[in-house]
Amino acid sequence: MLNFEYYNPTKIIFGKETQNQIGDLVKAYGGNRVLLHYGGSSAKKSGVYDQVMRALKESGLTVFELGGVKPNPRVSLIREGVTLCKQEGIDFIVALGGGSVIDSAKGIAAGSYYDGDVWDFYMKKAPVGQALPIGVILTIPAAGSETSAGSVVTNEEGHYKRDCQGETLIPKFAVLNPQLCFTLPDYQVSAGVSDILAHVMERYFTNTEHVDLTDRLCEATMRTVIQNVRLVRENKENYDAWAEIMWAGTIAHNNLLGTGREQDWGSHNIEHELSAEYDIAHGAGLAIIFPAWMKYVYRENIHRFVQFAVRVWDVDFACERPEEIVLEGIRRMEGFFRSIGMPVRLSEAGIGEDRFEQMAEKACMFGSIGGFKKLSEQDIVEIFRIAR
Ligand code: NZQ
Ligand code: ZN
Repeated sequence: MLNFEYYNPTKIIFGKETQNQIGDLVKAYGGNRVLLHYGGSSAKKSGVYDQVMRALKESGLTVFELGGVKPNPRVSLIREGVTLCKQEGIDFIVALGGGSVIDSAKGIAAGSYYDGDVWDFYMKKAPVGQALPIGVILTIPAAGSETSAGSVVTNEEGHYKRDCQGETLIPKFAVLNPQLCFTLPDYQVSAGVSDILAHVMERYFTNTEHVDLTDRLCEATMRTVIQNVRLVRENKENYDAWAEIMWAGTIAHNNLLGTGREQDWGSHNIEHELSAEYDIAHGAGLAIIFPAWMKYVYRENIHRFVQFAVRVWDVDFACERPEEIVLEGIRRMEGFFRSIGMPVRLSEAGIGEDRFEQMAEKACMFGSIGGFKKLSEQDIVEIFRIAR
């Protein structure tokens, strides 16, 4: 196990009707003039927007609002939010939504203390410094942004999707009410679950040895999600199954599972190029890229892939050669993604072959990617080819 420091200070408020506590929570963290940030129409349709607005106002807070965050959030709206926060002296941001809303809120939070263009953070031209405090009400278990230090944003000019990181971006609190997931469409449920699994796998595939505890925690998280997504697809109002998935979504990305081990993140970086070029849902892009990445890299450390096949996908350890066990594990994972309506090939998402080189070049803009295996532009093109 490697040396590590672990810091994850987000307070979690989990359970039924917890969104109604939002006013008291914001006040407890010193908020007074609050920006309520949200996405398209879902929060208003489900009624959670009204509940949250009422709770904020009843607590005597001054509330401003900025809706309209799109999936794969755009820097243009963040710039609008920064101007609003500076003009109105906003001192707290409430993000009501999923990863896109939270990441947009993080961009606004950091930009509010910065004189230059907020995109500088994402192009690594400026480090993230001071930021407005953020509180989250999560409506989709997926990105894990509710406790992460990262923000992933798209710049429409040039089709760039880039991340920035900073401890000041970690939300102060996250309200997780599984009831808020009942309105999620099937496709978003599955894209979210694919992303959760991917966050675990980016940490699971490591060359670090003697990481038994985190291996087992990763496997338990993956098995829990695989089992419970079937239940919520059968019954969207299965609170207990949602509770398992929602908590798993946070655990998958608060970096507990990554402690003491080298991590990979190659598949995520490759997927961000797909989302940037084709505006595909992040989770759907990962369901395509991860199997292709596995087929390309498994020989680097075949024992780890055997362990994954046996412990997560119940492939019989006794009967096959290691390579067959690995490939059967990958087949079962692809079968799982298909069974929940995710594409597992680029062609299934309507993506052709014409931009492989261009996307590979962009993915390596800051150098080679991936911790488990370092990937060059050529490697990434090969992975895209396997994913055809
Ligand atoms: O916009 P509305 O109308 O609200 O609809 C949203 C959106 O269309 C809908 N939705 C959310 N909650 C709902 C709901 N519909 C009905 N009922 C509800 N309760 O779901 C759609 C997708 O929302 P989005 O926020 O985009 O999903 P997700 O949470 O998967 O976030 C994806 C973004 O997070 C980034 C991704 O790259 C992507 O841009 N990530 C952020 C990370 C981080 N900051 O740590 C890490 C991740 O790896 C990821 O890269
Ligand atoms: Zn992700």
